[in-house]
Amino acid sequence: MKVLVTGGCGYIGSHTCVMLLEAGYDVIIVDNLCNSKRDVVDKIKEITGKDVIFYKGDVCDYALINKIFSHHDIVAVLHFAGLKAVGESVLKPLLYYRNNIDSTLNLLEVMTKYNCKNIVFSSSATVYGAPKTLPIKESAPLSTTNPYGSTKLYIEGILRDVYEADKNWNIAILRYFNPIGAHKSGLIGENPNGIPNNLMPYIIKVATKELEVLNIFGDDYDTPDGTGVRDYIHIIDLAKGHIKALDKVLSGSGIVCYNLGTGHGYSVLELVKTFEKVNNVKVNYRIAPRREGDIAACYADPTYAFQELGWKAELGIEDMCRDAYNYVMKCKRNTSD
Ligand code: NAD
Ligand code: UD1
Repeated sequence: MKVLVTGGCGYIGSHTCVMLLEAGYDVIIVDNLCNSKRDVVDKIKEITGKDVIFYKGDVCDYALINKIFSHHDIVAVLHFAGLKAVGESVLKPLLYYRNNIDSTLNLLEVMTKYNCKNIVFSSSATVYGAPKTLPIKESAPLSTTNPYGSTKLYIEGILRDVYEADKNWNIAILRYFNPIGAHKSGLIGENPNGIPNNLMPYIIKVATKELEVLNIFGDDYDTPDGTGVRDYIHIIDLAKGHIKALDKVLSGSGIVCYNLGTGHGYSVLELVKTFEKVNNVKVNYRIAPRREGDIAACYADPTYAFQELGWKAELGIEDMCRDAYNYVMKCKRNTSD
């Protein structure tokens, strides 16, 4: 059974491709490589021993998506392609609306044309805005504070409208919490260029001495140690959640929406200390002012995904810290060889 994975060379997409291949699916990737590299395709093959079909191109390109569907009998799409940097989205909102929304509209139009009406969409916990109650259930009120988050919320709305108009669609909206970690092999993972925005890549760059010090954004939040609390989830658990969601979609789910998180919140300091312990490295940090737009705490109620999909996260924060560091160290060794 062939599935199309948009953004399959990216961080979450690549790990999900591995799981899809291991589950017996045939995988076609389309990615314009705006935030990833071509060699990820080879790494996926190296891990799984299986081939994938790769198209380099933009999901906003109707002719290309049409060509892919005309060449292959695709049963479902996992739609990861999108831009995801919150700060950049504030500076370049049109880029984000154009890329994230246009690509989705294109895809849905071509899928309709070829009568492929099964899709798994990458949404985000960012659609919960500043949550009023914790842990967060799927039924919590939705709002966003930046254009990136708005693209996710609008796309969720588009998907609901598409389903209302045609109940033959099966749509899983997955709201991810904070994915970190990497595949055990150290062949795929997350290693952004430049100065990272997110916590784990920043910790790693301080541990490897590429950056001098981690700024901890605020220690005066209403949390146990005053630093921000998030629901970090191992990328492998997240990828497994996609296989379960895809199975659900293919069984005729209608439209469904699941939180993919662990249900446990860890503070910035807890993550830093765990990282230091499991990797036996020092992470210099200092307390800095709060980052604008940040919330004190955010963690999932993942009960619904467990009830409906039989999925729950299994790996712990120690695995996340160890695997994330292992991947970056392996990248470094390979580039210095
Ligand atoms: P990523 O940037 O690593 O992967 C996205 C991939 O999509 C990249 O390979 C990029 O080259 C590709 N891409 C972007 N726009 C494209 C287009 N128009 N056409 C073709 N390819 C395109 O990001 P990720 O962390 O793997 O995230 C995947 C999805 O999950 C995104 O939609 C993101 O918004 C969402 N998400 C990510 C997180 C997170 O913390 N990583 C959290 C919540 C939601
Ligand atoms: C951020 C995005 C969110 C997106 C998610 C995953 C913002 C406001 N939110 O979430 O929309 O879905 O990434 O891509 O950007 N921290 C530090 N120092 C740092 C970096 C982070 O102390 O250098 C703290 C933050 O204040 C926060 C925690 O670490 O408490 C996690 O931050 P981050 O990894 O950026 O994720 P989120 O803010 O949860």
